[in-house]
Amino acid sequence: MSLKKRFLVTMALPYANGDIHLGHVLEAVQTDIFVRFQRLRGHEAVFVCADDTHGTPIELSALKRGITPETLIAEAYESHRRDYAGFAIGFDIFYTTNSPENRRYAELIYNNLIKDGLIIEKEIDQYYCEHDRRFLPDRFITGACPQCGAQKQYGDVCEACGATYDPTEIVEPRCVICNGVPVMRRSTHFYVQLGKCETFLREYINREGVLQDDMRNFVTTWINEGLREWCISRDGPYFGFAIPGTKDKYFYVWLDAPIGYISSTDRWCNETGRAIGDYWSPQCDTEVVHFIGKDIVYFHTLFWPVMLKSSSFKLPGRFFIHGFINVKGEKMSKSRGTFIHARDYLEKIRHPQAAEFLRFYYGSKLMPNAGDLDLNAEELMSRVNTTLANNIGNLHHRTAVFCDRSFGGMVPDAPWDEAIAAEVEAAAAAIEGHFDRGEYKLAVERIHALGNRGNKYYQDGKPWELVKSAPQNAAVVMVTCVNLMKALAVFLKPVVPALSGRIERKLGMTLAWNDYAFSLRNIKMGPTEKLVRPLETADLEPLFGASVNESPAAEDASAPDDLIDIDTFGKVQLKVADVVAAEPVPKSKKLLRLQIELGAEKRQIVAGIAVHYTPESIVGKQIVVVANLKPAKLCGEVSQGMVLAAKNADGSLVVVSPERQGTSGARVA
Ligand code: 2FM
Ligand code: ZN
Repeated sequence: MSLKKRFLVTMALPYANGDIHLGHVLEAVQTDIFVRFQRLRGHEAVFVCADDTHGTPIELSALKRGITPETLIAEAYESHRRDYAGFAIGFDIFYTTNSPENRRYAELIYNNLIKDGLIIEKEIDQYYCEHDRRFLPDRFITGACPQCGAQKQYGDVCEACGATYDPTEIVEPRCVICNGVPVMRRSTHFYVQLGKCETFLREYINREGVLQDDMRNFVTTWINEGLREWCISRDGPYFGFAIPGTKDKYFYVWLDAPIGYISSTDRWCNETGRAIGDYWSPQCDTEVVHFIGKDIVYFHTLFWPVMLKSSSFKLPGRFFIHGFINVKGEKMSKSRGTFIHARDYLEKIRHPQAAEFLRFYYGSKLMPNAGDLDLNAEELMSRVNTTLANNIGNLHHRTAVFCDRSFGGMVPDAPWDEAIAAEVEAAAAAIEGHFDRGEYKLAVERIHALGNRGNKYYQDGKPWELVKSAPQNAAVVMVTCVNLMKALAVFLKPVVPALSGRIERKLGMTLAWNDYAFSLRNIKMGPTEKLVRPLETADLEPLFGASVNESPAAEDASAPDDLIDIDTFGKVQLKVADVVAAEPVPKSKKLLRLQIELGAEKRQIVAGIAVHYTPESIVGKQIVVVANLKPAKLCGEVSQGMVLAAKNADGSLVVVSPERQGTSGARVA
């Protein structure tokens, strides 16, 4: 492995005025996968976050609820921590911007901006409510939108037409507290002259690796359009930090919010005996990595670097900027009922692995770009079931059960297949690069392909036959499968740590990245745990409604890893059959016992169609059956094949029939 590196990793500080929703969870999972991956490789990755607690929306919400802002943010803090913990987000610290450390750093940065001559004072007009004796910032004022005339809009943005404007532009303004008509008053404010930093900002955003390609052009355009002065003060009363040396002026929330990254690190350093200079001084080797959404790029790539540089802090080395989560192709919306809170997801989905499944689903979609991602219940179910249950879970199950039964729960003492070991080695290099670059989708695809490879290797190796004819060769297959499972557990660990934990317990080891290499033979394994219970529509319906469709999303049908070749298809013998008799199976609501004829051959098939067909309605039909399925017993009845049937979107079943009367026993191909 390369030399030990150190990362200081952050995600955007969630605003304390609302609950965590699945958009927040996307960012948290994206960040957490990166952190877990770097730690797994042996690097140090400190994961810092906090609640963003200041500003008018919080003050206003508290006012409406008749509580103090402090009470409101204390409630939010507990709820945010609990929700993130539900998705196994592994913060080193989750702090608050309403802290003494944050006040200290905000003052420090402000003073250094003054020293650098970057701050000017300007007098501006602002609405003032004489009844409430306060200036009225954006959220404290309502009126008609100056663009479209929509009534009852706030003083900063119109929810009807999307226009943004200055509070002084709003038509027929009213105070939100007393509904009185405000007056105009002069007030002095502080502005950062960003224009003075243009050369630095151009150089910074073009530094290798700092910005994604899709974002660099955006930010360059903003600079080209001219960097406007940024107002960093608000009049009191305001829930935030008073600006030293002023009367009743406060730092605007967006000044102290990102400073929360530093102050939270500082707090963590004090708690753990570290030195802040090892993380934020410009000379240190730490790479600061920020994960943010595309809506707050301006703050992070233009304002924030200027603040950091002026106080000689480390500049961020990398930004990962993601898009929004859409539900059914549209932005999550409370009115359309598509807004999903983290708590609802955790409580309503009836599956103990639901949180990990969302981690996996997000991981299987995320790339280092700001494209929006669609959240779709069918796709969630199909990705989880295709990769985690049917592929990885299946390989784990057959490997573990075979070793338990045929090798007394031991990893056999045999040489592994060197060709497979070499394939894993190549995959490891690729997957490592993908995780490091934030290409989680590609990492997951490669892991899925490796799982497929393992299943094919097992299937082709036929250890169940070899164990009788050439047990030493069966041992080679199984030692290879166990080591391959170990590698898969390593690669999946950043994404689904609890699932990998089950394999770790089976193997009796805690896996680090380099443990992907084949190493195990002749050891006793622990008990076998089921890796995954597949997701079913019934699990998802309490959250997503009754419209969840069980058939896999179309995209999976074309996924290259799921394609089969003609030889595989040729192994399935489909034949035309006549149904000559049918009767219900006692004690079963779902099963019918069918007597069928394949030409001269008579057979019995037990089919789960009783809810959809009466015995009378199926007798006399020609149907298609799988003729070479191993016989099985269902409810004590022998079934010698399987009836083909299609499941419609509404859950109804229709059996497959030849379009015209065919020859009984004819092969379908
Ligand atoms: O957009 C938001 O929700 C902000 N609370 C993000 C702040 S990130 C950082 F600057 F604190
Ligand atoms: Zn008022």
